[in-house]
Amino acid sequence: MAKIELRRVAKSWGEVAAVEPTDLTIGDGEFVAILGPSGCGKSTTLFMLAGIYTPTGGDILFDGQRVNDVEARDRNVGIVFQSYALYPNMSVRDNILFPLRFKDVDKAAAAARADAAARLVQVHELMDRRPGQLSGGQQQRVALARALVKEPQLLLLDEPLSNLDASLRLTMRSEIRSLQRKLGVTTLLVTHDQIEATTMADRVICMSRGRIEQVGTAEDLYHRPNSVFVAGFIGSPPINLLACSVDAGTLRVGEAKLRATGGAGECVLGVRPESVALGTGPFRGRVGDLEPHGRETIYHLETALGPLRALEAGASARFRLGDEVSFAISATLLFDARTTRRIEGAGADMPA
Ligand SMILES: Nc1ncnc2c1ncn2[C@@H]1O[C@H](COP(=O)(O)OP(=O)(O)OP(=O)(O)O)[C@@H](O)[C@H]1O
Ligand SMILES: [Mg+2]
Repeated sequence: MAKIELRRVAKSWGEVAAVEPTDLTIGDGEFVAILGPSGCGKSTTLFMLAGIYTPTGGDILFDGQRVNDVEARDRNVGIVFQSYALYPNMSVRDNILFPLRFKDVDKAAAAARADAAARLVQVHELMDRRPGQLSGGQQQRVALARALVKEPQLLLLDEPLSNLDASLRLTMRSEIRSLQRKLGVTTLLVTHDQIEATTMADRVICMSRGRIEQVGTAEDLYHRPNSVFVAGFIGSPPINLLACSVDAGTLRVGEAKLRATGGAGECVLGVRPESVALGTGPFRGRVGDLEPHGRETIYHLETALGPLRALEAGASARFRLGDEVSFAISATLLFDARTTRRIEGAGADMPA
């Protein structure tokens, strides 16, 4: 296993900077996820670690050794691609054996390793089939076995679950996680699915436009987002973001005036839908729309502060379209509108 370091690593395609100079350390045996919207540079980062792309700046180190000029096949990296790309005309066995072709491993040893990798992900009974004769989840596991057969020091997973249905994705999520724990292999998962990232990884790297916005635990990103981007990207339904201004301790948002704790000038007030408690409280709103989700209901309220989404747990919706409801807000975040950075400790002091 390896400790991975990126030092000012960058990748441009002509004028287009896919990845801005980036610093990052992934601990030996750690499981990290890169999370971000389409086109933010996730796969590019992963391909640079794999040795498929050469960085246009900076250094990549595996256990302190610079590997920029080390070929992909010599990096001892296992990779599962975004489309997991099994060879359709080869059996499962030959697919799994494939990465060992370029290695100095004798036939019997290679067969034993392929068998062990197949057992690990439970496809050992399917070795003579072709990929077309497997379900999506089975193909996914074969792709994993192929990545693991080299006993890699780094496992790279690029949206490995994107082609699976919801229930299979759930199963594979925990299977990959427990396999990673068992093997202790340093792992980087790329995904645009926040649940996948936060449930599987020890730490999440939130990326936007070729830049790391924040690195932290699920807890950090949710409760202490660095920026409006992270706040808006993490959490479902998404956080309410309301333009506001702060002047001499007064926060004006919509038609409401509140007491501000910190902040000055143009700001953005963040209110998580689950921080809006319906039923009683100092504010009033009208239910403009509601989405029943079975175990919870999302209300779209028209309020003096502005439009607010509220999330309420419970099997059935307590309020109906057009109802006037009182509500309280338990917690807020405050961001500087110009820099989009969060202002530590700042928010609106809510009346009881
Ligand atoms: N070979 C290439 N030539 C030119 N531009 C590229 C190339 N590969 C990627 N890019 C650009 O670099 C940026 C980052 O691409 P990348 O594939 O890393 O995104 P991503 O975060 O993996 O997105 P997705 O979630 O859609 O897979 C994009 O703007 C993309 O268009
Ligand atoms: Mg990608």
